[in-house]
Formats: sequence, structure tokens, C-alpha cells
Amino acid sequence: MARVLVTARLPGDAAALLAREHEVDHYEGPLPLPRSELFRRVEGVEGLLCLLSEKIDREVMDRAPSLKVIANYAVGTDNVDLALAKERGIGVCNTPGVLTETTAELAFALLLSLSRRIVEGDKFVREGRFTGWEPDLLLGRDIFGAQVGVVGMGRIGQAFARRAKACGARILYTNRGRLPPEQEGPLEARLVPLDDLVRESDFISVHCPLTKETRGLFSRERLLRMKPTAYLINTGRGPVVDEAALVEVLREGKIAGAALDVYEKEPQLAPGLAGLSNVVLVPHLGSASVATREEMARMCARDILAVLAGQKPANKVV
Ligand code: DGY
Repeated sequence: MARVLVTARLPGDAAALLAREHEVDHYEGPLPLPRSELFRRVEGVEGLLCLLSEKIDREVMDRAPSLKVIANYAVGTDNVDLALAKERGIGVCNTPGVLTETTAELAFALLLSLSRRIVEGDKFVREGRFTGWEPDLLLGRDIFGAQVGVVGMGRIGQAFARRAKACGARILYTNRGRLPPEQEGPLEARLVPLDDLVRESDFISVHCPLTKETRGLFSRERLLRMKPTAYLINTGRGPVVDEAALVEVLREGKIAGAALDVYEKEPQLAPGLAGLSNVVLVPHLGSASVATREEMARMCARDILAVLAGQKPANKVV
């Protein structure tokens, strides 16, 4: 029986699955888990089930010399020092696949919220300003016929592109490499350099992982290359977009609007962002459906159980 730390209350039966075989320390207090508490609780554990908001770095790993497996409750693993984990022989697992459609749905919901001004409309009605139908009230933009740019055509990017294509949009994309014909063909998607995508798109949706190369990808300079009528959607990772620069270009009317699920200094917002009417803001809900979050937790639990039993986990990153 090994010691396993689970750093949050999780939907479903994952913690119970772990507790059948191991001694589980289950933090169920308010989030975020204070770092000092993480340091204290991680001592002596062999398995760690953690959240994307927890930095699993040298300071944490130094306190857990027996650590064998980190299961990150997310597909993104930018919060974990992967190189160090690898060097120490600690397996790092994540939750790919299960959240693809759920996250793409959220990105698409944000696109629709922007294009049809759903949040502005909701506020308008609640404030009692709806006095009757008007020909030019809160006019939006059709997705049908629009150029949609997908930055990062991995699983989630492709699932988002399928939705946009189904609505009659034309798809441009950037990616590390060109998609194989059986994936690119049905989307009728065109691989282009990022700056062409930025210049030509009416909606840009960010789905790339956060890496050294993608940090700050949407700088002020790049944002200014967007059409003044275009919208930016980010459900990937906050630091891909320079949020202060985004506030400036939105305020200056250099782009039409933005929708964010993730933030550069999450959970803080860049000053001025919340006061803008042409933005839609949600609190990192990409994978937030009951079924997906339950299955993500199970995937983490199963991989911890596998590693601790000396078996190969299903979703090993390193
Ligand atoms: C992930 O899994 O990386 C998502 O951001 C979680 O919602």
C-alpha cells in the first residue's frame, strides 16, 4: 500500500478507486491548495493526483523523493516540470482524448456568444432596455461564409474546426505539421503561416499548447495584424496571448472582440479586461462537463494505480 495525495475534491469515484488499494490523503479544502500545504502533504507520497493550477516543480519534487507518478487532471502539462520528472524517473500522466469534444464545444460556444452577441443581449434584456424589436439592434456576424483560423490543429483544434465547418465557415490553420489528407480533406482546411491566418481570419481560435515557442504568440504586434472586424477566442492556455496588449487593442477598437476561458495570470485578469463590453469571459471551463470531468478523474486514478502496480499507464507524457 502506497501513499497517494489527491489535491482536490474530484467529480465521480476516482478517489474511492485509489482508496481501495492505497492510503489516500485527499485535500478537500478551499482551492487553490496553498503551496505550503502542498509541500507538507506531498512528503512521503508515491502517487500525486494534481490540478493544472498547481506548479509541480523542483520544490515539490524535492519534498517527495519516493514519488513515482504524477497524474495531472488536465491534458495540458505545462504546470509540471517534465524534464525534471523524466530525469528523476517520475512518470507524468495526463487526460488526453476524453476532453476533446467538450473543450471544442466550449470554444464553439464562445464563438457563437461573440458572433451573435449573446452576453451583451442577455445584459440588455436584464437591464430592462429591451423595449421592442428593432432592425439594427445588436447585429452580429454570420459564421456561415466566415474565415475561421485555428491556431494549433491537434485533437481539440480539429474538433473545433469540424463544428465551424458544419456551420459553413472556411478553415485556415497553423500547426507543427500538415495534417494527413484523411484529416485535412474532410475539413477542407488550408495550412498557412500564422501571420496569413491572423490577417485573413474573421474568427481566430487558439488551441495550441503552452510552450516556449507559443508563450506571447499573440503579442500587440500580432493582434494589430488582425482585421478590425475579427474576434479572438482562447480556450488553450492564457500566456499564449499578451492579455494587457489584448485589452489595449480591444479598447482602441483595433479588433472587434475576444472570448477567453484561460488567462495569462490565472485566475487574475489583466486590468481593464472585465470592464470591456466586447469580451466574453468564462472561468477555465473547457473540460467542464460532468461526464468529462468524471472520466478525467478516473483516467488519473487508473494511471496512478497502474504505475504503483508496476504496470504501464495508459496516458504517459514522460
Ligand atoms: C486541460 O485539460 O488542459 C484543460 O485546460 C482543462 O480544462
